[in-house]
Amino acid sequence: MDDYQLLTDLHKNANRQGPGGDAETEKALSLAMADRDEPSKIADIGCGTGASTLLLARLLNAQITAVDFLQDFLDVLKGRAENLGLSEKIMTLCCSMDNLPFGEEEYDVIWSEGAIYNIGFEKGVADWNRYLKVDGLLIVSEITWTTASRPSELQKHWESEYPEIDVASSKIRILEKNGYSPIGYFILPEHCWLDNYYRPMQNSFGDFLNRNGASEDAQAIVEAENREIELYEKYKAHYSYGVYIAKKLNLHKP
Ligand SMILES: C[S@@+](CC[C@H](N)C(=O)[O-])C[C@H]1O[C@@H](n2cnc3c(N)ncnc32)[C@H](O)[C@@H]1O
Repeated sequence: MDDYQLLTDLHKNANRQGPGGDAETEKALSLAMADRDEPSKIADIGCGTGASTLLLARLLNAQITAVDFLQDFLDVLKGRAENLGLSEKIMTLCCSMDNLPFGEEEYDVIWSEGAIYNIGFEKGVADWNRYLKVDGLLIVSEITWTTASRPSELQKHWESEYPEIDVASSKIRILEKNGYSPIGYFILPEHCWLDNYYRPMQNSFGDFLNRNGASEDAQAIVEAENREIELYEKYKAHYSYGVYIAKKLNLHKP
């Protein structure tokens, strides 16, 4: 198995593939003041196995296009949607988030939890703007410094993993520069990382290693995840995911 297959194998049985929580997804929805009964069209980009997709389908009168470039994750999402009787509200689409086959102004809402970093926040919010209707909502979570300065060990780690990591004011400025009016921001609390993501992942390491014959590559993945978890536990005061809620402006209005 190559690294992608191993990572898919590690994550596909999890409820979520990154930090987040149902209460926090619902909080973002409340801050957006979305009308839950109004028919709407949503794209959930980098949906993984669909933690947010399934909740949105349950809460809203919406048709949701759930996008991920890993078909294995989408297959799990499809099975979950069927079990919950939500299949009619969800269409899965296997493609890359930097090559979306969407029309101009096709969507009322673009949702993306813990995934936009794959193409970079600035590129993502700039590229996806065209797919939103005017006054449509962009709701994205993005790893964010929560303090003005931080220890160099932490800074070095995240700057090599994701050079775009920054403070919320810089992310909000990027939204403003790219045709959005920011209307809400909050940070994910600790339980979204530890209880909802890291602990279930750690509990799955034993089975993951057994399934993969404790290969060197599988062990390297476990070590890298453990290092990320240790870093979070040591330095969690300095970063989290920020959840950004913004409305697309009509820049052609007089
Ligand atoms: C950290 S996970 C978050 C998944 C899910 N939103 C959640 O919160 O549980 C990031 C997701 O983005 C997907 N992904 C990564 N690069 C992608 C790309 N270029 N296009 C589409 N999906 C991508 C991964 O397969 C993964 O499911």
